[in-house]
Amino acid sequence: MTLADLEAILSEADPDVFAVASAESLDALAAAERALVGKGSPMSRAKQSIGQLDAGEKPLAGKAVSAFAERVAQAVESRRAELETIAAASAPVDALDLTLGGHARPRGHLHLVTQVQRELEDIFCGMGYLVMEGPEVEDDWHNFEALNMVPGHPARSMQDTLYVDLGEAEQVLLRTHTSPVQIRTMETMTPPIYVVAPGRVYRNETLDARHSPVFHQIEALAVDRGITLADLFGTIEIFVRAMLHDDRIRTRFRPDFFPYTEPSAELAVSCIFCDGAGCRVCSQTGWIELGGCGMVDPDVLQRVGIDPEEYSGFAFGFGLERIAMIRAGIDEIKTFFDGDVRFLAQF
Ligand code: DAH
Repeated sequence: MTLADLEAILSEADPDVFAVASAESLDALAAAERALVGKGSPMSRAKQSIGQLDAGEKPLAGKAVSAFAERVAQAVESRRAELETIAAASAPVDALDLTLGGHARPRGHLHLVTQVQRELEDIFCGMGYLVMEGPEVEDDWHNFEALNMVPGHPARSMQDTLYVDLGEAEQVLLRTHTSPVQIRTMETMTPPIYVVAPGRVYRNETLDARHSPVFHQIEALAVDRGITLADLFGTIEIFVRAMLHDDRIRTRFRPDFFPYTEPSAELAVSCIFCDGAGCRVCSQTGWIELGGCGMVDPDVLQRVGIDPEEYSGFAFGFGLERIAMIRAGIDEIKTFFDGDVRFLAQF
């Protein structure tokens, strides 16, 4: 064995040192490294043969072996760095563990009153009605006068109505009901008219369990040739059953008075909690009042330019909170306006 033999062993392994650069994985890289410098490798054979060399050649042989080891180490290190970079680049995909628990974000949803409003709009759209809107800040004409509530009518009293003081300018008010949308609709449309108008209304009340200065109503108006009281009753019955999701619900109409309808009626439905037997929700009466209705007064039609000899109509107006309270078994209107998420999240 000579120094030349030893150098030959090492230089024969050179192509394998280059091949390290093409190792496809960290495992393949470790295997290539072992083949070059591990047990039985060219380097270990070269090392072992140093002992058989002349004393003068031993230092040179030692240098040759460590130079080889250095080249292998460098090649392995640079390929390892490359492989790690490649692995890191694809890591987000590999490391996405779909079974890991996350932080759930609480999801919001529509307020119960809004849910009820949308559902009502759907029911009426299904019957061919249009959804209308009117302003919440109204003038006296639409809120009162056109609806036969002449100056001095008790409903105009400051005790009920919130007036907006504009100084010298014309006095306006926060609408006390959705009925002014009837007038606005008839002023702009010609019969046949089939509309509903949901929205916010205002009364001069202090917020307590049963009263709120702000609440919601839905108004319906149908004006066409030959509309009768039977159309009103039938429409209300269909809508009430669809709304309360119960075909056994009975409707009750009792004579009432509204200046803008003749005849007028108060509508109540059989209590869905006790089926009419009497319970706390219906104050032991078996009935829950929903709102008012009637045949549009001919004077009202005339005032907006619709000929009462040719057309007739019906109208009704209900409180949305009422319906929501019945549906969800809530007995305090206040809870709708408190904004307590623990309450609202239940619906
Ligand atoms: N506007 C009435 C109220 O706020 C409810 C009402 C009664 C509406 C009779 C109507 C109606 O359309 O015909 O109490």
